[in-house]
Amino acid sequence: MKKLALILGLLAIGCSGGGSGATCPTGSTVTYDNFGRQFFASYCDRCHAMGTRPAYNSLAAIRADSTSIDLQAAAGDNSVNTAMPESGATPTEAERRRLGEWLACGAP
Ligand code: HEC
Repeated sequence: MKKLALILGLLAIGCSGGGSGATCPTGSTVTYDNFGRQFFASYCDRCHAMGTRPAYNSLAAIRADSTSIDLQAAAGDNSVNTAMPESGATPTEAERRRLGEWLACGAP
């Protein structure tokens, strides 16, 4: 029953747009090459590139999970999500906002 509530909760978040609420500003210049690769290498790959969890050391994998990554780690107009990384080096809020923007732009 607890699980059901959790799933319904996640669905509700999904339906309301949820997540950080970050948006893609016109003229955004954030890309995988100038931001994403380094962000995930610095803060995520230590735990997410070794096969036991979703690996985020490729652009395709990040795009496939972008909603959930936004919920766990990005900042935007609705919230500053700090569940990930769960330990170790932590991104600044500015970096989380860049992550939100980049994901909202479709992770170019
Ligand atoms: C210290 C290790 C560690 C680091 C660093 C870390 N994670 Fe995680 N992450 C985990 C573990 C363990 C889980 C799965 C267990 C859980 O849900 O808590 C997880 C789960 C997740 C999930 C949910 C996966 C799913 O199945 O939907 C996402 C999204 C995520 N992490 C994103 C990130 C991002 C983005 C970063 C970097 C900003 C990051 N994590 C850094 C350990 C880590």
